[in-house]
Amino acid sequence: MANVIAIDGPSGAGKSSVSRLVGKKLGYLHVDSGALYRIMTWQCLVHGVDTSDPAAVVKFVRNVTVESRPEDGAIAYYVGGETPGDRIRTPEVTAHASEVARLPEVREIITSALRGMASCGNLVVEGRDITTAVFPDSPARFYLTASAEARARRRQKEEVEKGIANQSAETVKASLLARDRMDSSRACAPLRKADGALEIDSSDMTLEEVVETVLAALPPSWR
Ligand code: DC
Repeated sequence: MANVIAIDGPSGAGKSSVSRLVGKKLGYLHVDSGALYRIMTWQCLVHGVDTSDPAAVVKFVRNVTVESRPEDGAIAYYVGGETPGDRIRTPEVTAHASEVARLPEVREIITSALRGMASCGNLVVEGRDITTAVFPDSPARFYLTASAEARARRRQKEEVEKGIANQSAETVKASLLARDRMDSSRACAPLRKADGALEIDSSDMTLEEVVETVLAALPPSWR
């Protein structure tokens, strides 16, 4: 059985940067589970599927094929032979993703895909329900958080740097808090800190410090 490091937390807490760097240091594959929810949302929008209509979304998502394979230290995703890239990072996809992610049938499809990735090797998996529902038995589970201000600042900077959007910090914060609310209050696999997960508040920590904290808490044979 592969080693799986599971990292959950709200948007903008730094999960992606931390997971990527931990993966790089250990030679574990980085798995961005949010990207799968974003891909499904993006495909709904491209094909004119109303994301507020659960039956339509579920019917459509069952027929979306996402190929995944290890590439450059991460699990890379392809749809119809193409990499989605930043098309899944637009404010429109971001705004609709929680609607798609709250559907149990969609979560079941993605959960089973994520579990299957353990056959590719050791993983660092980030998301909202990795520690509670996807890999709840992992001995290396983390809940990464930060203040809403710090999270909004990071997200906004990232959007501007990547040329995805140029929204004000206030707009980014409002959208982030709305998503947190939806992700934490949904009935199926809501975002919450798992019992036994190590909580790390990254508001005043550097990326390196967070990574060191994660590495120090791993089972000794994994380091
Ligand atoms: O981490 P992210 O912003 O890329 O996630 C996109 C959406 O998917 C967000 O609404 C939370 C949701 N998500 C989820 O419900 N479960 C996961 N394991 C990962 C993401």
